[in-house]
Formats: sequence, C-alpha cells, structure tokens
Amino acid sequence: MLKGKTVVLGVTGGIAAYKTASLASMLVKQHADVQVIMTEHATNFITPVTFETLTGNKCMVDTFDRNFQFQVEHVALARRADIFMIAPATANVIAKVAHGLADDMLTTTFLACKKPKYLAPAMNTQMYENPITQDNLETCRRYGMHVIAPDSGYLACGDTGAGKMPEPEELFEYIMLELACEKDMAGKRVLVTAGPTREAIDPVRYITNHSTGKMGYAIARAAARRGARVTLVSGPVELKAPLGVELVPVTSAAGMFQAVTAAAADQDMIIKAAAVADYRPSHVGTEKTKKTDGAMSIELERTDDILAWLGAHRTPGQLLCGFSMETQNLLENSRAKLEKKHVDMIVANNLKTAGAGFGTDTNVVTLITGDGTEKLALMTKDETAHEILTRLMAMGADAGWTGGGEKLS
Ligand code: CTP
Repeated sequence: MLKGKTVVLGVTGGIAAYKTASLASMLVKQHADVQVIMTEHATNFITPVTFETLTGNKCMVDTFDRNFQFQVEHVALARRADIFMIAPATANVIAKVAHGLADDMLTTTFLACKKPKYLAPAMNTQMYENPITQDNLETCRRYGMHVIAPDSGYLACGDTGAGKMPEPEELFEYIMLELACEKDMAGKRVLVTAGPTREAIDPVRYITNHSTGKMGYAIARAAARRGARVTLVSGPVELKAPLGVELVPVTSAAGMFQAVTAAAADQDMIIKAAAVADYRPSHVGTEKTKKTDGAMSIELERTDDILAWLGAHRTPGQLLCGFSMETQNLLENSRAKLEKKHVDMIVANNLKTAGAGFGTDTNVVTLITGDGTEKLALMTKDETAHEILTRLMAMGADAGWTGGGEKLS
C-alpha cells in the first residue's frame, strides 16, 4: 500500500531505537522506499547495518559530512520524502527541531522537509515531564508537527511513567493513515457501526451473537485512511479502534440506537455493519436468577430497528448501507431488507460460505443496490471495506456529491 512512497525515518539516541528496525521492516513490506538517517548517538543503540539490511538503502549516519554533494542529496531527500518521522525522538532532538537548529544531517534534512512530520518522543519520565520539553513539544505542534504521545510504563532507566515509545505497530498506523490511500473521502462524515450488542438478562448473564467487529472496524479504518471523518459506534469487541477514528462504545441495541440516532443527521454516509440484537429480554433481573429444577424460558421483546429508523429519517444526500447475514435465500432476503429499510446498499453475506462470516479475516459479499447485484470475490475484510466504500462514493457522485464532500442539505 506504500508503493511509490518515500518514508524518512530519523533515529536518535534512545534505547527505543531498536524498535524502529521493526517499523522499517513493516514499511518495506508495504513496498515503501525507506530512508533512515541516524544520529551518531543512535549508533550506540543500533547499527546502521541493521537498517541497511532491512531497507536496502544506505543508512545515513550523522557525522556531518561536509561534502557538498552529500548535503545537496539531503535536500533532495527532504523533497522526495512523503513523510518524516523521528522515532525515537530524544529530548535533545525535540529541543533542536522546535527551534530550527540544523547542526547535523538529521536536523538539516528535517528542517528542509515540507511534508508531514511526526515525532515519537522517548525518554525518561522526568525529562519528558520537564516544562522545557513540554514547551518544546508545544512549539513543535504549533509549527504543524505531529507529536505521538508516549506510552506509560516501566522505562529502561528504572522509572515508571510516561516516556515509552509506542510499539512499532502503532507508529506504522500513523504512517499508513497519512500515506496508504488517496484522500478521496476528505471532508466526508462517515458513521460505521460494528460488533455485536449485549442484551442483559440479569446482572450476570446476557444474550449476544458471534460478531467480532472485524468487518466494521475494517470499514472504519479504510474510510479514515481515505480521509473521511469517521465515527465508529461499536458494541463490545476485542479490537482496538483504528487510528484517526472517533470511537463511541456501546453495549446494548438500545445504546446503539441512541448513539447512532444522535449522530445521524451530520453524516454523509452511514454503514451499519453491526450485528444488532433483534430481541432483548422483556424484564432484566436486578439480582442473579437462581436455577430451579424445571425448565425455564425468557420472554423477549423487539429492539428498535436502527437501520429502518435511519431509512425513515434520512437527510438529503445521505447514503445508507446495511449488512445482511443469512444462511439461506441470501439474495432474496437481502433485497427485501434493502426495500423494507429504504437503504441504498445491502452488503449480503452467507454465513455458510467458506471464507465469509464471523471472526474470519476474509469475506465473500454480494452488493445489492437498486441498480442490481454484484458479487465480489473472496478477499480480505480490508479489501472488501475499500470495495464497499468505492461503490458508495460512486453512488454519492451520482447523487451530486461535490469534491469537497460536504453533505447536501
Ligand atoms: N439492524 C439494525 N437494528 C436492528 C437489527 C438490525 O440496524 N435492531 C441492521 C443491521 O446492522 C444490519 C441490517 O439491519 O445492517 C440487517 O440486519 P439483519 O439482522 O441481518 O436483518 P434483520 O432486518 O434484523 O432481519 P432478520 O434478522 O430477520 O434476518
């Protein structure tokens, strides 16, 4: 996903420098051209050969080479970069870049670079919390640099507190959010629902389903990477919210109804991937239900159908997409939902199809619209997410959406 993109990684002298090797490797796997510039201090923690082996590029080490051609190359690299991330960023380098100091290769190239810049501070807690460092970080933010908040925990120096560099997977997400996709959804507001709901029986038990939230989270991630402003209303799942997405956690169908209907009017697109309970217990016990010798039954009542509500209250220009999971008569049942709930698209999948269904990383879906039916091949949920968004964006264009993406009203 990063083919043709140049990522410049600045590595400074902190113990977290070893983690940046994993980051470089992840970027290379996405076909990015990864250029690493190290400070001399950083070479005390990790060797340039590690980065050269991983990236296939010469790692520039910061003995400021006075050779003119080399300096010009650096300006060229600053120009070629699509993103520049300093990870780990020591208190020292943060102080330098906050004040425009350019006394070595890394800071020179950083100062010359006009593309998005990220700092991943990593240092001792006292240094991090020092008002001087905090002021410097504020200055960096004021100049448009992105500061990635450090994690808290046990630090290499023996202290416990803030100052730990986030794991490479998290840094990778920042780069992917910035570079992985064309921003064709910039300015669009998208609400996605995901996961199951839980309907309480008593304080101990609940009714739910097997949804893991993977499909909805994949859609939210894809939309955010394409530049949309994404709200993710999620039932209880084990997944971490994608970077750049506003998470609204809910538990029950009633909670999801409230969260979705409260935000609905502002959305250009609402995609309901959640597996919402159709029924909930009519009475929720305040105490644990004790067993008896005989059988027992639980009376259920209908929950509100959120998608149907959205279909009845849609705002001008808004696109609605529902999901349909069936075990038989997939197309017939799903088209009936499209019409009954007044939505623009139903993403239908059969639980019994190999590669589709709960918990898998792949899906096999059929997109049903007023214009027809399109069966997509087996693909990852991430790929499926992009296909769905691309179709919805095309429908938006047909409906007169403008490039700026503001909802018609
Ligand atoms: N849905 C919803 N609110 C509900 C139930 C479902 O918004 N209370 C939405 C789901 O998020 C999904 C779509 O409706 O996008 C279809 O859900 P599904 O359960 O497959 O269909 P139902 O209409 O509930 O019909 P049935 O359960 O009979 O298949």
